[in-house]
Amino acid sequence: MSDAPRITESAVAEAVDAALAAVASAADSAALKAARSAHAGEASPLAQLNAAIRDLPGSEKAAAGKLVGQARARVAEAFTARQEQLAAEEEQARLAAEAVDVTAIAPRRRLGARHPLTMLMEEMADIFVGMGWEVGEGPEVDHEWFIFDALNTDPDHPARSEQDTLYLSPTQRHLALRSHTSTVQIRSLLSRPLPVYVVAPGKVFRRDELDATHTPVFHQIEGIAIDRGLTMAHLRGTLEHLARAMFGPEARIRLRPNFFPFTEPSAEMDVWHPTAKGGPRWIEWGGCGMVDPNVLRSAGVDPAEYQGFAFGMGIERTLQFRNGLSDMRDMVEGDVRFSQQFGMVV
Ligand code: PHE
Repeated sequence: MSDAPRITESAVAEAVDAALAAVASAADSAALKAARSAHAGEASPLAQLNAAIRDLPGSEKAAAGKLVGQARARVAEAFTARQEQLAAEEEQARLAAEAVDVTAIAPRRRLGARHPLTMLMEEMADIFVGMGWEVGEGPEVDHEWFIFDALNTDPDHPARSEQDTLYLSPTQRHLALRSHTSTVQIRSLLSRPLPVYVVAPGKVFRRDELDATHTPVFHQIEGIAIDRGLTMAHLRGTLEHLARAMFGPEARIRLRPNFFPFTEPSAEMDVWHPTAKGGPRWIEWGGCGMVDPNVLRSAGVDPAEYQGFAFGMGIERTLQFRNGLSDMRDMVEGDVRFSQQFGMVV
């Protein structure tokens, strides 16, 4: 056994020192396990020294056995002590990691909120409900008859062109995405007993590019009142009430002559906005007028007996000038930070 190590005090001390250093530097139980097999396992220097005892002359066996035995015991003890220490540390770390703070506030899923456009549309409709009006609806895809014909709009009126209105194919079906909520004028007259006082908030569609002041899908609120003896004064008073309810007691409206196929006379309505961003001023708000007798006739109403007025305005535009918003695109992009500015009303 020429390659068996010689059992000397220094050889044993060296093996012990190496083993103790490895024990001390093992940072976790996996590292300690590796150190144990290197320094106390079958191929370790100490194991080889132990094996060499067997080949010594009988007279030396006892002393060598004592030397190596004590060394192995010391190393084994060091491993056990370190193992206990590491196990305790690891248990502590695990408990800390798994600790549950029963007093902590549970993470909450963020609640959704009504969109500012929806809230504004309902706020406007509510003002009319407060005056005894009803809220009406119509489909977003409608027949051309409701969008144009029944509203006294010439077959060659520019609004009908495919540049302005989004038709469904095949075009022979005469279906389109409604380009205004005025469709509800006719629907209300056809489906309700007179007198009719209806507001119709809803989505409308036009062939517009999305930019700071246009969106191809937007919202309007239309109103129609048909009763005996309604005049332009009722139109004016109603819209002035709306303006004050929305923009404060100093708000008022002004009407400028205009043309719409479905009203005669027709007017453009401006609102005096006392708290407008950049100072009080007139702002173009919507269209209105006395319902054209032809529209009444389309719905089977006798214009000699019943008259009335109608109006319509854009919700996006209203939100824009009411809240001083510069870019309409913010309203449609769905960033919750936009909605948050208006309060998270659920
Ligand atoms: N429908 C018109 C528009 O979309 C608005 C309007 C409604 C005008 C009712 C007069 C009467 O611009």
